[in-house]
Amino acid sequence: MPKIIVAIDGYSSCGKSTTAKLVARQLNYPYIDTGAMYRAVTLYFIQNHISLTNPKEIENALSKVHISFRRHPELGRNDTYLNGLNVEDEIRKMYVSEQVSEVSAIAEVRHALVAQQQRMGKTKGIVMDGRDIGTVVFPQAELKIFMTADPHIRAQRRQLELMEKGEIVGLEEIAENLKNRDYIDTHRAESPLRQAEDAIYIDNSLMTLDEQVEMVVRLADEQIGLSLRRNARA
Ligand code: DC
Repeated sequence: MPKIIVAIDGYSSCGKSTTAKLVARQLNYPYIDTGAMYRAVTLYFIQNHISLTNPKEIENALSKVHISFRRHPELGRNDTYLNGLNVEDEIRKMYVSEQVSEVSAIAEVRHALVAQQQRMGKTKGIVMDGRDIGTVVFPQAELKIFMTADPHIRAQRRQLELMEKGEIVGLEEIAENLKNRDYIDTHRAESPLRQAEDAIYIDNSLMTLDEQVEMVVRLADEQIGLSLRRNARA
């Protein structure tokens, strides 16, 4: 069966990662959460007091950052590791969310992570989500999805997610953080968040998770079928 790349981009907390994870499971593809990679770099920069305005210091810090993903033996989730340490819970905390858009707007950071992401998808058969997957990382991806949801619904989803991890944050603070991140993500000079011309737009405000997953899997199956027919003709 031919393998394809599924690129899912969109705003923060619109359910991209949850959808992408389940789509990957159904397709039997690995799933890469690129937001987690930007969060891991942000955590490293915070812990090591890296100046965000000093390119030399940034380059030097990046050479010491090693990010990988490993399956959690009991929870079955794909955990993010920073230099061998499991940072999955730490990178989701509010203090990291508050810095991550600024760090991910730095050109050196983007170049390093995009190169690693491209290596991960070299043999295709991957589901990757983020902000620039369909535009910069894999502009040739067979299936591109641009996902969004109503800002109020996104803030509520994020609040629930944090609450489940024991972090109680007010809805207004979350809505403000999402608004700031949306602004920085869409206005940065380096690969800003935008919908690729050939991406399929999905507003999931009124959709259930099952409906979203089903829709993306159906679109992926169509693309796999197309690749199969193309290969048969070649
Ligand atoms: O998906 P997330 O909210 O965990 O992403 C965290 C931040 O990382 C987000 O504010 C923007 C940045 N990001 C990015 O710039 N490019 C990506 N491909 C993924 C995330």
